[in-house]
Amino acid sequence: MLSKHQIEQFHQQGCLVLENELSGEQITEILAECKSLLESLDLESHPKTTFSTKGAQTNDQYFIESSDQVRFFFEEDAFDAQGILNKPKALAINKIGHYLHQLNPIFHSVTVTARNHEIAQDLGIKQPQVLQSMVIFKQPHIGGQVSTHQDATFLYTSPQSALGFWYAIQDCDKTNGALEYVPGSHRTSAVYKRMVRTPDQKSTVFEPTGLDEWSEPNDDEFEQICCKAGSLVLIHNSVLHRSAHNGSAKSRYAYAFHAIDKTAHYDERNWLQIPSSGGTEFTDL
Ligand code: FE2
Repeated sequence: MLSKHQIEQFHQQGCLVLENELSGEQITEILAECKSLLESLDLESHPKTTFSTKGAQTNDQYFIESSDQVRFFFEEDAFDAQGILNKPKALAINKIGHYLHQLNPIFHSVTVTARNHEIAQDLGIKQPQVLQSMVIFKQPHIGGQVSTHQDATFLYTSPQSALGFWYAIQDCDKTNGALEYVPGSHRTSAVYKRMVRTPDQKSTVFEPTGLDEWSEPNDDEFEQICCKAGSLVLIHNSVLHRSAHNGSAKSRYAYAFHAIDKTAHYDERNWLQIPSSGGTEFTDL
């Protein structure tokens, strides 16, 4: 169970760090699974879809259909000007997602646990369900920046209920693109836009929600979360967060999943549907 102090801290700050949530054995197992997944990637058949938060629109069905698959997204900087991959594949992938928690036994075992169910309930989710999961690699030298955002933009429920579980699989420090967030911003920043599927179901677009837009915070408002492998960072759906480009020689692997409350209304226009053709067959946490 989370302590009263931890619960208060989450509600005040919008983020909560729990150290040593994964054991050394679990970290070793996850790293080995990441390696094996990266090796399994067949470059010939892959559409070379990249992932970037700059535009955050994708016209690619490969992305939309990843909600109930295990799919690979490349770093933008993994390609040269001619569009040729300039890195070995294991150093070129930005992330793998978004159904690892259901299709991969290793990731299922660290996601659907009594501990995580309890954490979600402690933080106010009555009936937690897992929506999506991903491994984020933050590759050395090319790991892309993630611009300031709120997770509710992508996982919209009424009322908002999404909760991010973000595990450091490698140490996160000032040099390799650690998470950064604006403490307390979830209490003052409205979810002013949301990502929806276009009517043809083939792409996504941002749409205003009618709430007031927040402006980009100053750099000194962000707090960086430097933490050891095995730490779990809990992220409120409305807190402003980001991470920098990784210019260092070290990768920064993380495993993240998102839970919502089954008692909240899940919007049928959200990009993420299970099955991907449309539906809310989410995994009970
Ligand atoms: Fe996020």
